[in-house]
Amino acid sequence: MKRINEWAGIANVSDMFPFLRKFDLQSLRKKMARDMGKAMKIASMFLKEREEERKKGAEKGKDFLDVLLEFEGTGIANVSDMFPFLRKFDLQSLRKKMARDMGKAMKIASMFLKEREEERKKGAEKGKDFLDVLLEFEGTGKDEPANLSEHEIKVFVLEMFLAGSETTSSSVEWALTELLRHPQAMDKVKTEISKVVGPNKKFEESDIDNLPYMQAVIKESLRLHPPLPFLIPRETIQYTKFMGYDVPKSTQVWVNAWAIGRDPECWDDPVSFKPERFLGSKVDVKGQHYELIPFGAGRRMCVGLPLGHRMIHFALGSLLHEFHWELPDGVSPKSINMDESMGVTARKRDSLKVVPKKA
Ligand code: HEM
Repeated sequence: MKRINEWAGIANVSDMFPFLRKFDLQSLRKKMARDMGKAMKIASMFLKEREEERKKGAEKGKDFLDVLLEFEGTGIANVSDMFPFLRKFDLQSLRKKMARDMGKAMKIASMFLKEREEERKKGAEKGKDFLDVLLEFEGTGKDEPANLSEHEIKVFVLEMFLAGSETTSSSVEWALTELLRHPQAMDKVKTEISKVVGPNKKFEESDIDNLPYMQAVIKESLRLHPPLPFLIPRETIQYTKFMGYDVPKSTQVWVNAWAIGRDPECWDDPVSFKPERFLGSKVDVKGQHYELIPFGAGRRMCVGLPLGHRMIHFALGSLLHEFHWELPDGVSPKSINMDESMGVTARKRDSLKVVPKKA
């Protein structure tokens, strides 16, 4: 149990945003565990182990997660996008729900901010984190603000959570699912990891560079399952003629990264999971190769790429290094359900159920 507890910390957002540590976003871990396999029962074991004194903070964390999940639900198709004249009627109450959830999220972000300001006033000694950087921001006041308002800081914090949590956890879940469906690839990646990391040692970030097959597995999984299949919508700033189509100014444009990743003009045997295709290939996810754009491309591309990219490798590598993963009784590699659910991200519709055995 202790080992699981240690392991459970690896994909902890509190590590990225230490100011959240005191709230112990238990619920985010809980969700991660559910996504990795309700069967693991890690969440319940984990919860039992937590100290009483953290309960209060966990509740705040849970509220925050609940709000994030509500946002996830708002990724559904909006009829007003197709028929803008309906916008003012808000037929699906999406605007109303969004305003309600945004209000809740802002309240929680205010709480984080207040706590930090109080700590800073007390002069608590500790390392600087993302929130400190935002609070201390000093701009020129010309092409950037002189400093950031409380509202701007709260929006920054929320944006990072919204953009960074589902995308990362869903990528790890898909990659593990693909490996369970392809036992040969699973064997290869585990052999590579055990050679490079070795026994009795924890997986470390510095190991990632020496794991070309695991990198290929993650690229291949992101090709087939980009967490944001349509990236983030863009809008044309002027009338454009594109591939014979007349595109009026202010048209919303969605880039279908999911379809590009499966385009037979770009990929051999496009729907098969074949990490080998990336071995010795220069094709990368960093926005230079337009056939593979799970993080987008151009000026709007993911600002969290370096962090998200490392997190997926680190989380998957640690999971594979620490455990053998088995499918529950009655499920075979071929029978794993691969349906997607469409929210803000395209997650697995049925969360992966998988049983960890200590490696
Ligand atoms: C596997 C992990 C991730 C994937 C696949 C991913 C993917 C994306 C994509 C596709 C976009 C839109 C790019 C475009 O339209 O060209 C985006 C935007 C963004 N991402 Fe990520 N992301 C990931 C992790 C993260 C993390 C960890 C953070 C921050 C902590 C983050 C922060 C952002 C932000 C702030 C934006 C811009 C949102 C906007 O323009 O309003 N992402 N991401």
